[in-house]
Amino acid sequence: MAEKNSPEVHPRKITTRSLTQMKRAGQRITALTAYDHTMAGLLDQAGIDVILVGDSAAMVVQGLNTTLCITMEQMLLHAAWVSGAVDRALVVGDLPFMSYQVNPDEGLRNAGRMVKESGVEAVKLEGGEKICRTVERIVDVGIPVMGHLGLTPQSIHKFGTYQVRATEKVEADEVRRDARALCDAGAFAIVIEKVPAQLATEIAKEVEVPIIGIGAGAGCDGQILVSHDMLGLYTKFHPRFVRRYANLGDQMLDAFTRYSSDVRSGDFPSEDESY
Ligand code: KIV
Repeated sequence: MAEKNSPEVHPRKITTRSLTQMKRAGQRITALTAYDHTMAGLLDQAGIDVILVGDSAAMVVQGLNTTLCITMEQMLLHAAWVSGAVDRALVVGDLPFMSYQVNPDEGLRNAGRMVKESGVEAVKLEGGEKICRTVERIVDVGIPVMGHLGLTPQSIHKFGTYQVRATEKVEADEVRRDARALCDAGAFAIVIEKVPAQLATEIAKEVEVPIIGIGAGAGCDGQILVSHDMLGLYTKFHPRFVRRYANLGDQMLDAFTRYSSDVRSGDFPSEDESY
């Protein structure tokens, strides 16, 4: 018999509707990021439910210090590479900084580009009440929207730090209101990043849509991590919410070093590896 949280429970294509059903059934949702075809194919094979083409690509792929400089064109490329590799998971594309903040028309146009030009099935936007008009416009044309609250990396210069958010009542109440507003605007799920576990748990109980936590404790309806963080490929920061499932950075360094030494010593290629 399939285990409750195994992919066999939802063997078919994951849709926004499946995620709502999973929340109702108390089945936790798994989500990770991908930026290219190879990684996305592996996540899909592993039965990950949601693959986010995150603007974290700016940091973990491009080596920038924030997510702010990645462009719409670059996100479209990453999203197309990922979409082409995925059969089962729901693929969500992040709208980059300043692609939706100016006005709802621009947000709608860029959400449309993300779906039409890259093949993603939903888009993600950061922010609450202030972007709800944009969320409504996007949802109205049939594009599912995932929200993102708590630590929103596109506002890093306003926050000034990547520390935990909403530890004080005023900000906690604001996150609660934003979550409610996003639901009312038609968002199908909300990522909540780096807030106290109790707040995220309460919000997950208060709203109908799945709450996907990152550094927001075990009471969320699902969890997301940046793949490069959990694989030990991106090691500039190690926040305590990141569990390392592999140390691929160390393994790759070892492989590259051994290859280099084998080429230099003449050990590679051998006769078997030659024609
Ligand atoms: O860009 C990203 O990877 C994200 C996750 C941290 C949720 O938004």
